Amino acid sequence: MANIHEDVERILVTEDELREINRRLGAQITEDFKGKKLFIVGILKGSIYFMTDLTRNIDLPLEIDFLGVSSYGSSTRSSGQVRILKDLDKSIEGYDVLLIEDILDTGRTLSYVSEMLMNRKANSISICTLLDKPERRAPDVNIVPKYVGCDVPNEFVVGYGLDYDQKYRNLPYIGVLKRAIYE
Ligand code: IMP
Ligand code: MG
Repeated sequence: MANIHEDVERILVTEDELREINRRLGAQITEDFKGKKLFIVGILKGSIYFMTDLTRNIDLPLEIDFLGVSSYGSSTRSSGQVRILKDLDKSIEGYDVLLIEDILDTGRTLSYVSEMLMNRKANSISICTLLDKPERRAPDVNIVPKYVGCDVPNEFVVGYGLDYDQKYRNLPYIGVLKRAIYE
């Protein structure tokens, strides 16, 4: 594993496409949250690359914080179990919260997190995910992301924050990982 690019089977979302997604979503969010108390919550660690680029495209006063959750371990399938590893530093009561996620898969993580934040009396909770795997949504999960970068097929993807076994987050694009790496 000397060169991380060699472990990628093919590129799904290029750096240019990521820039375009950040511009488009940033402009949309700027419109939608005018005059609101915007609080951006990134789900660690997968969302950090997306969140830093996206927020630089939002032309509004806003605050940011992170939620550390664990749902995956080092396998490629969701356990459905969500644990809070790092909580928010302050109360979000009265804020319009925008949750930033790297990828929406079964939806269990965000379903748990949005319910938890709603109970803290946020004024509103919206979801912004870079990638969506709509085919993978669990039947009992009722999550509709307001902002989606792009849909991806049901394959294991890495890069731009997304990991396999904590690695590949620093790839500057989104790629499909070679099966040989995790099989
Ligand atoms: P969910 O709770 O099943 O929606 O899982 C969402 C989380 O699973 C994401 O935040 C990712 O950390 C992880 N995940 C799901 N699919 C992938 C993938 O293809 N590559 C990397 N991580 C993934
Ligand atoms: Mg994640």
